[in-house]
Amino acid sequence: MPGWRKSRRLPLAGTWAPLPLAKSPSSLVVSCIGKPIASAMANCTVPIWGSQDLTLERLHAIAAVLAGAGDDAESLDVQEEDRAIKRPSSDLPIPLTALIGREQERAALCTLLQRSEVRLLTLTGTAGVGKTRLALQVAMELMHDFADGVHFISLAPLSDPALVIPTIVYSMGLMENGSQPLLDLLKTSLHDKHQLLLLDNFEHVITTAPRLSELLEACPALKLLVTSREVLRLRGEHQFAVLPLALPDPRRIPDDRSLIHVPAVDLFLQRAQAVRADFHLTPDNARAITEICLRLDGLPLAIELAAARAKLLAPQALLARLERRLHVLTGGARDLPLRQRTLRNTLAWSYELLSEEEQHLFQRISAFTGGATLEAIEALCEALGDKTGRVFDGVASLLDKSLLYQQA
Ligand SMILES: Nc1ncnc2c1ncn2[C@@H]1O[C@H](COP(=O)(O)OP(=O)(O)OP(=O)(O)O)[C@@H](O)[C@H]1O
Ligand SMILES: [Mg+2]
Repeated sequence: MPGWRKSRRLPLAGTWAPLPLAKSPSSLVVSCIGKPIASAMANCTVPIWGSQDLTLERLHAIAAVLAGAGDDAESLDVQEEDRAIKRPSSDLPIPLTALIGREQERAALCTLLQRSEVRLLTLTGTAGVGKTRLALQVAMELMHDFADGVHFISLAPLSDPALVIPTIVYSMGLMENGSQPLLDLLKTSLHDKHQLLLLDNFEHVITTAPRLSELLEACPALKLLVTSREVLRLRGEHQFAVLPLALPDPRRIPDDRSLIHVPAVDLFLQRAQAVRADFHLTPDNARAITEICLRLDGLPLAIELAAARAKLLAPQALLARLERRLHVLTGGARDLPLRQRTLRNTLAWSYELLSEEEQHLFQRISAFTGGATLEAIEALCEALGDKTGRVFDGVASLLDKSLLYQQA
């Protein structure tokens, strides 16, 4: 996370003064302050700086004094309690490993979410591609852009879409007041909040999506960042497809020093070193590691599961076994969600969310190991006696659900 913002303008006594600020997780810390303000402060007898951090609340109080709205020290004495309430808050889980790559995606997503018209942003992508990881990073980076903070809500454990609104209400610590419907309570509580909610894993509760629109309509300063294997298909939704990590060019594998900086390879190395401290990239294993990453399409979860096997198998041996991917990619960490501990579970989670008709089409398409054109899929279905009129819609739906992807 970059520690610095370039410059932020704060309204000060009716004028604007550029104020470069350093970001810290819990408060804004003075880095340097514009001259006009500093000279105004010279005439101010109030002990403003002391050893306290300069928070937005203190700045507003100072601005009020300078504007003549208050002229005693008390108006600057922002109570600790108030500061704790107003300070941008976050309950984002802190990842236990470093984020690899994703510089462009981070920048693009931050820019999108900073645009006032972008209120609902959905990160889509296939199982284990890194949607949650990226969303967490972006939410962390934007924490100080939301006066009322950012809030993380994991929807993965829910079995019933009807539980989405109650889960949001309870995880935000809102109090039920008897007869009021929970969606109304949420609308009232969030109405004047400048807040970002990160709703993680929406695909299996997607039928609740229209409630999100209602919430956004009722709460003008609220924004939602959603991760989902399937697009929500709501008006005003901005979709962002998360693609696998960058891979080395198989035709021209770079030397070891460059290879280490290719995100998919970097991820493999970092996870392999976590289970075997003496694991290194060498001229002997560089090609096998590259091929493992290519074989796994740069998919972070699959790479992590493969790298966990480096404890037992040299990359060359691991590569040979990847012919039977679902049998090898099974040793996920115990603190991963169950659906991510094996590749089979990960795929099953998506597959089970398909309708019967979509499952049938997906089975047909899996006959094409290297991909297929729409025409080829239609021809196969026709030859096998399926209703071809529905193939187009079916393929579109599998694309929306991130079970197929389109190559340029
Ligand atoms: N850029 C990255 N750097 C480091 N680790 C990553 C990165 N992207 C993903 N991972 C790791 O890969 C695994 C899968 O990522 P993540 O859970 O974000 O995928 P997902 O797309 O949200 O999957 P799902 O669809 O199952 O929710 C996690 O262990 C995550 O920490
Ligand atoms: Mg996820």
